Amino acid sequence: MKKTALLLWYKKHGRHELPWRNTNNAYHIYLSEIMLQQTQVKTVLERFYFQFLEKFPSFESLCAAKESDVLKAWEGLGYYTRARNIHKTANIIQKKLPSNVKELLELPGIGPSTANAIACFAFGKEVPILDANVKRILYRYYKIKTAKDKELWLLSHKLFSSYKKHAYAYNQALMDLGSQVCTSKKPLCTLCPFNEDCEGKNEASSYPEKKPKKEKELRKRQLVIYKYKDKYALFQNENNLLKGLWSFKQYQVLKDELYDTYLGEIKHEYSHISLRAKIYLRCVSKDHFKSWFNKDEISALALSKIDHKALALEKKYNEG
Ligand code: ADE
Repeated sequence: MKKTALLLWYKKHGRHELPWRNTNNAYHIYLSEIMLQQTQVKTVLERFYFQFLEKFPSFESLCAAKESDVLKAWEGLGYYTRARNIHKTANIIQKKLPSNVKELLELPGIGPSTANAIACFAFGKEVPILDANVKRILYRYYKIKTAKDKELWLLSHKLFSSYKKHAYAYNQALMDLGSQVCTSKKPLCTLCPFNEDCEGKNEASSYPEKKPKKEKELRKRQLVIYKYKDKYALFQNENNLLKGLWSFKQYQVLKDELYDTYLGEIKHEYSHISLRAKIYLRCVSKDHFKSWFNKDEISALALSKIDHKALALEKKYNEG
């Protein structure tokens, strides 16, 4: 295979305008890689990347911030562990990221592919990545059905070996190829620079062959907005995916809902859970709970989507 094909393809079709590809700022690159771990480019670009950098322009600014303010800036992006890890990382390194893979891997929230991406994009290291796009390309290119990550890493290094001197363009190119050409359904093989050598080209099925999707857990809950005058009782999550975020009280079984005003039902989809929550409003005295906030104060806190939706229902009810 002519190795220039991929690089020429990238030159012509790559997403060169992405802001994290137009900077040497290691913090900016790091932030983009963490955001892009579980979120699409479009969402990161349009709603979160610049806004976050505006609030936290450097590791020093993150270091000086409270975790709750970092969570607030992350609000809506989901997978909040990432925000807590960014804050932890800032506190560990204080100012500057290490430039080698081994030390990057020791930081919270940085796995092998992200470590290599940061090392390559921010520090010019000649290492390949292995994200979901690259995995899909490797599965097709080498026509394999199943492989453990260890084997995929070997293949990733193998394909990379003839591009070492162009590591940056190669890694960015593979991500673009995966998202634009070597897509899981209907890959555009005639447009692919790997067309000549790809063993799985023109096969409609996506690699790896999909395991049947596990059914999502249907989780039914009752959520109570406790109110005292113009204040709302909120509770800080301690040990789940939403750790650090503030929420209204949720119940599996609410025995005395007769005392509440029913506001409506909310549906929310998490990656593994479909949540159906019936929302109630209950006015209580102040000594029922510890942490009360008015609407202005709430706007400075990080709440999950479902709690925002509940608050919107309550607003609608008040407006009447
Ligand atoms: N996903 C993860 N890293 C990325 C990057 N640098 N460009 C586009 N998508 C990505």
